[in-house]
Amino acid sequence: MDISPIIDAENLTRIYRLGAADVAGLGGVTFRIAPGAFVVLKGNSGSGKSTLLALLGGLDRPTQGRLRVAGFDVFSLNEKDLVRYRRRVVGIVFQSFNLLPTLTVLENVCLPALLAGFPLKPTREKALRWLEWLGMQDRLHHLPGELSGGEAQRTAIARALINEPPVILADEPTGNLDTRNGQRVVEILGTLNRDYGCTVVMATHATVADAVATRQLCLRDGLIVDDQCLQP
Ligand SMILES: Nc1ncnc2c1ncn2[C@@H]1O[C@H](COP(=O)(O)OP(=O)(O)OP(=O)(O)O)[C@@H](O)[C@H]1O
Ligand SMILES: [Mg+2]
Repeated sequence: MDISPIIDAENLTRIYRLGAADVAGLGGVTFRIAPGAFVVLKGNSGSGKSTLLALLGGLDRPTQGRLRVAGFDVFSLNEKDLVRYRRRVVGIVFQSFNLLPTLTVLENVCLPALLAGFPLKPTREKALRWLEWLGMQDRLHHLPGELSGGEAQRTAIARALINEPPVILADEPTGNLDTRNGQRVVEILGTLNRDYGCTVVMATHATVADAVATRQLCLRDGLIVDDQCLQP
């Protein structure tokens, strides 16, 4: 059976222009990801993992190439639809959490849904359900500066989930966490993949996600040099 890919990238290229020099962040990569996959992106520092995730998230534009995600031709969207894409199609989790420091946990989680135009009451209820699922029910009114790294990352995951995106992108989400909290974040992403059907693309240096991943893409110097199916 031919299942259409949820992510379809063709010759994705990102050249950074630094004065007279060109740096190839991504040298032209072509790949497809099936819905429901859990993909780990591996590769040395500077191999292009963050560059690729920024393109998949619609946070950056390619120098060349095409990208379709969940039926959206990402780089032909106008600015308004690109914002909509970022809010509804992809949920993004970063190494450094990127929470807004002056908003509480609950407010940080609700914000993307409110910006997307969803009404407050059901948004708040949904945020409370996700935060409880993530073990954050006793931290709802804390500010990010009052959280541990693990708590901050679980808040960021709830924020990424609030608009129920089909795709979760995670850039070194365990990079600032101790082993136990890193493991917990990977288990959460694994559950979202297995039980909620989210497609996950996660960049990591660690082997921590190997047990839950279904596929591993290895990058070197901005190119995919290895593509393996894994048995989760
Ligand atoms: N804004 C930028 N301007 C210029 N060059 C950049 C920029 N961002 C990334 N690069 C270059 O692009 C290449 C890929 O960088 P990228 O951040 O994607 O690597 P990475 O695989 O995520 O590395 P790490 O594991 O250290 O996070 C590197 O050579 C990097 O120096
Ligand atoms: Mg990176």
